Amino acid sequence: MAENIHPIFNRLLQRSDKEQQLGQKSKALWFTGLSGSGKSTIAQHLERKLYNEGFFVQVLDGDNIRAGINNNLSFSPEDRAENIRRIAEIAKLYLNTGVITLNSFISPTKAIRAKAKEIIGAEDFIEIFINTPLEVCEARDVKGLYKKARKGEIKGFTGIDAPYEAPETPALNVKTAKKSIDKSVEEIFEYIFPLITAEKS
Ligand code: ADX
Repeated sequence: MAENIHPIFNRLLQRSDKEQQLGQKSKALWFTGLSGSGKSTIAQHLERKLYNEGFFVQVLDGDNIRAGINNNLSFSPEDRAENIRRIAEIAKLYLNTGVITLNSFISPTKAIRAKAKEIIGAEDFIEIFINTPLEVCEARDVKGLYKKARKGEIKGFTGIDAPYEAPETPALNVKTAKKSIDKSVEEIFEYIFPLITAEKS
């Protein structure tokens, strides 16, 4: 019998097989920063740039996660931790498909981000601090939420009456306040390009 078994057909496809098919190396880029810091905007622009360069990418952010799989979660510390835990598990599933994910969530504490890094794996987790000061986020107030938080209409708002702990050693610290979106995107692209490019064989 043994000679009739073809192990190759039994072998599960590996992440490396899928990365090879896509011609890239998968990574999870983890954007952290205050609400209104520009995480999602930068992720969307970066996704377009990577797509144009031939990479296969998926953005994960509040709109597609908190409206769907995490629609039962609030902004309590426990639910934020659960929010990030599930997202990290999703990003890990994507990693194994060879797809690069751009994860943009406040992920406000060091402990929450450490958990995400642990789930995803340190070698694939790239922490990018979208470093926009609170004053700038609040002045922009794109969604009008800071105003509500200041009036006490939203309780436990990050940066106002809930903590945001800035990362101490992010892979990249992107200071957006005096920069265009394109400039920030370019900075991130330059950094990640060698990490996601497949070696030529
Ligand atoms: S996280 O803290 O759990 O990582 P997440 O990134 O998913 O947060 O969601 C943040 C978005 O939810 C904000 O950009 C804002 O639009 C909205 N939001 C609603 N309530 C709050 C709150 N209490 N604190 C922060 N963001 C909130």
